[in-house]
Amino acid sequence: MFEDIFKRIKNKNEHKSTTSLKFKEDLVSFILKNNIEGNFLEIGTNRGYTTAILAGVAKVLNKVVYSFDNNLEVLKEAKNLFQECKLDNCFLINKDIYKEPWGLNKDFGLVLIDAVHEQKAFSSDLLNTEKILLNNGFIVVHDFGLENKYGRPIYEVLHKNKNKYEIIRYIGEKSDWNPLGTGKAVDFEGVIIKILE
Ligand SMILES: C[S@@+](CC[C@H](N)C(=O)[O-])C[C@H]1O[C@@H](n2cnc3c(N)ncnc32)[C@H](O)[C@@H]1O
Repeated sequence: MFEDIFKRIKNKNEHKSTTSLKFKEDLVSFILKNNIEGNFLEIGTNRGYTTAILAGVAKVLNKVVYSFDNNLEVLKEAKNLFQECKLDNCFLINKDIYKEPWGLNKDFGLVLIDAVHEQKAFSSDLLNTEKILLNNGFIVVHDFGLENKYGRPIYEVLHKNKNKYEIIRYIGEKSDWNPLGTGKAVDFEGVIIKILE
């Protein structure tokens, strides 16, 4: 099943908004090695290239994936991809996550944050995630090592809140992972964190 999904999705050097194949592989491997309770949520679907991988691994574990995006056009493409991959466990939610309540129950063991890369938006994503993350749940953040016109948004928010979030591991590419995107890759692509008690 994973082979079929990996054949249909894109790497970050082919589509600027997605994650690298290494990030996707590391994510699958992390999920399979950890006994994660609850379902999965992605913040920022885009064309569904990472959602499809999450859904593939979720299917093996009898879970479902929810994913938010405010762009209906990309969600249509994501839906087509899930049909091609025969993934029936993805629920796409079209909403503006910074203006509307998320409206989800506390039922998630893993949340992937990959929406707007600036401090205020990322802080809001973290606070909303906390409300729906089960105890011992994991937060995966893309673009940890991104430096853009806002500085290093992900790193800076996590650094300011280091008493609150524990870095479990870095995932994805270590360098040169953003050839098509805006901003520079100055550190690892992704990070997995836990909320400290
Ligand atoms: C970097 S892309 C996500 C890439 C995707 N996770 C992947 O790996 O292919 C960020 C997405 O966040 C969405 N987004 C931006 N602002 C948003 C908002 N206010 N509400 C919901 N989604 C938003 C964009 O439409 C875009 O598709």
